[in-house]
Amino acid sequence: MKKKIVTLFLSAMMATSMLAVPAMADDATDAEAVAEEATDEAEEEAAEDVEEDAAEAAEDAADAIDLEGIDVENATIGISIYKFDDNFMTLYRTELVRYLTEDLGFNEKNITVTDGKNDQAEQTNQINNFITAGVDVMILNLVQSSSAPQVTDLCNEAGIPVVYINRQPEESESDRWAEEGIKATYVGADARQSGTFQGEEILETANGGDINGDGKVSYIMVQGDPENIDAQYRTEYSVKALTDAGVEVEELLLQRGDWDQAKGQQIVQDALTQFGDQIEVVFCNNDAMALGALQSIQAAGRVVNEDIYLVGVDALTDALQNIQDGNMTGTVFNDHIGQSHAAVEMAVKFLKDEEVAPVNMVDYIKATSENAADILALLQ
Ligand code: GAL
Repeated sequence: MKKKIVTLFLSAMMATSMLAVPAMADDATDAEAVAEEATDEAEEEAAEDVEEDAAEAAEDAADAIDLEGIDVENATIGISIYKFDDNFMTLYRTELVRYLTEDLGFNEKNITVTDGKNDQAEQTNQINNFITAGVDVMILNLVQSSSAPQVTDLCNEAGIPVVYINRQPEESESDRWAEEGIKATYVGADARQSGTFQGEEILETANGGDINGDGKVSYIMVQGDPENIDAQYRTEYSVKALTDAGVEVEELLLQRGDWDQAKGQQIVQDALTQFGDQIEVVFCNNDAMALGALQSIQAAGRVVNEDIYLVGVDALTDALQNIQDGNMTGTVFNDHIGQSHAAVEMAVKFLKDEEVAPVNMVDYIKATSENAADILALLQ
């Protein structure tokens, strides 16, 4: 439901910015007044539309997934998250369970959610327990995506379909599911898109990221877990967006921060000591690390959007708030609502013995000062 609202609202906002351009105003003051009025009216209309659509979307929610033939009261689902102590995956898992129970009517007692504690052996035990318990379907956020072949075989032998989320297994593995008719699928988002959006956000700044005007953009890169395809692609494609636009870049530092705020803070603190004003852009593979980076940037007396740029990914509430306040340049909405709903949709298809594509991707959405407040309002 929320996903639909976000999409509708963002289209409304795009219409708003088009309306805000005064066609034939004589002077600046008139133009501003016209623009302001147009913006106010359009915003009011957009807000009303959103409220109406929200009611409509609520009714649609149950229809979005065809539950006919599914015994929602008795269906059992095993869910394992790579670790509970991860900001983004906490939002994701909360929405996943909420959607299953509140919107679709699955019985909370039959849904088991376990904490993989960032330990593949521990998580594999949990999966074996799901098999022993004979769950109807699993939704798994693997600790190591490289263990997908082994886990898939375990589930397949037990006749239990599996929906992988967030950490994408190798393409050769998802190809195998399709070739061998194995009931496994992946739901996620293409991290090349989020990386590209981060790069574009830097290109869209007043000086395209070249604060000191020396003809190149000097950056540091705070990476997530490098085993993870999201970390690899965001690292590569954020910079690629700049070089594809013909911008010269200089990498001062690339360091892993494992998606963790405290690590992000430490890495950026050390980098600011080492490179000082040379750093023009801080790329973080996610918002948790960007929020840590922001703490160090402020402690060093640097000012985001004036003498340094900072971008993340996920659109955590704190990040959106900081963008709105001018303390972060941008982020990218990692749509945990769309992804969790799509994961459920695939699980339900498996339960109904329907065909499921091996890979299912949900779009990212760019989040900047222009739409941060709106996304924030909708996520709260
Ligand atoms: C990414 C997300 C990170 C972290 C990671 C875990 O998609 O941006 O914040 O949650 O997944 O695999």
